[in-house]
Amino acid sequence: MSVVHELNHPLIQHKLAILRNKKTGVKEFRELVGEISGLMCYEATRNLPTEEVMVQTPVAKAKCYKLAGKKLAIIPILRAGLGMVDAMLDLIPSAKVGHIGLYRDPETHQPVEYYCKLPEDIGKRQVFVVDPMLATGGSAIAAIDFLKQHGCKQIIMMNIIGCPEGVKAVQDAHPDVDIYVAAIDEKLNEHAYIVPGLGDAGDRIFGTK
Ligand code: PRP
Ligand code: URA
Repeated sequence: MSVVHELNHPLIQHKLAILRNKKTGVKEFRELVGEISGLMCYEATRNLPTEEVMVQTPVAKAKCYKLAGKKLAIIPILRAGLGMVDAMLDLIPSAKVGHIGLYRDPETHQPVEYYCKLPEDIGKRQVFVVDPMLATGGSAIAAIDFLKQHGCKQIIMMNIIGCPEGVKAVQDAHPDVDIYVAAIDEKLNEHAYIVPGLGDAGDRIFGTK
C-alpha cells in the first residue's frame, strides 16, 4: 500500500488558512498556491538519490552531495495543476514538464480528457503529478493510468487539499503511488466538492468565477 504524507508543517498550515478564505483574491491565491507547492516539493523530493562529490572551498576540500542525475518530470493536471508548476521548477529547474488536460463532468463527476502531451522519455523519469485538489480521485487515477500506459514506473502524487474518499480511491487504484498532501479534509459534499476545502481551485487560480 502506498504511503500518504500529510504535511502539517506550521508554515503550510498558516498559508492554507489564507488560501481557504473565500475573501482571498486571485493574486494572493495564486501566490499562495505557489508558496505551498514549493514547501511541498521540498518534502516530496526528500528521497531523491544523491551522489558524493568533492568540492574545493576557499578553505579545504569538502565532501558534498548532488542529485544523482535522476531525470525528473512535473505533470500538472490542467487547469489547476498549472498553478503548482513554477514553484516546483524554481527548486528543480531541469525537470521536464508534461501536461494532462482533464475536466470533471459537472453531472457525473467523471474526468474527461481533452489534452495530453508528455516528454518523449517520460518512462525513464521520476514523475511528480501535481493538482491542488484530490476530491473523488477520478482525475488523479485517470492521469496516473495514462502515465503508466506511457511506461512511467515511479510516480508521486502531490495535492494541496485531499479528502478520505479521494485518498482511498487513489490508493486502491494505484497502491504503488505515494501521495503528498498538505491537508486531508473531512469529506465530499453532494456535488463532489471537498468540505471544507477551498472551492473550485481552477476558478480561484485563474479568476474565472
Ligand atoms: C478539479 C481539480 C482536479 C479535480 C479533482 O479540476 O483541479 O483536477 O477537479 O476532482 P476529482 O478528484 O473528483 O477528479 P476541474 O475538473 O474542476 O478542472 P479545472 O482544473 O479545469 O477547473
Ligand atoms: N475540484 C475543486 O476544484 N474543488 C473541489 O472541492 C473538488 C474538485
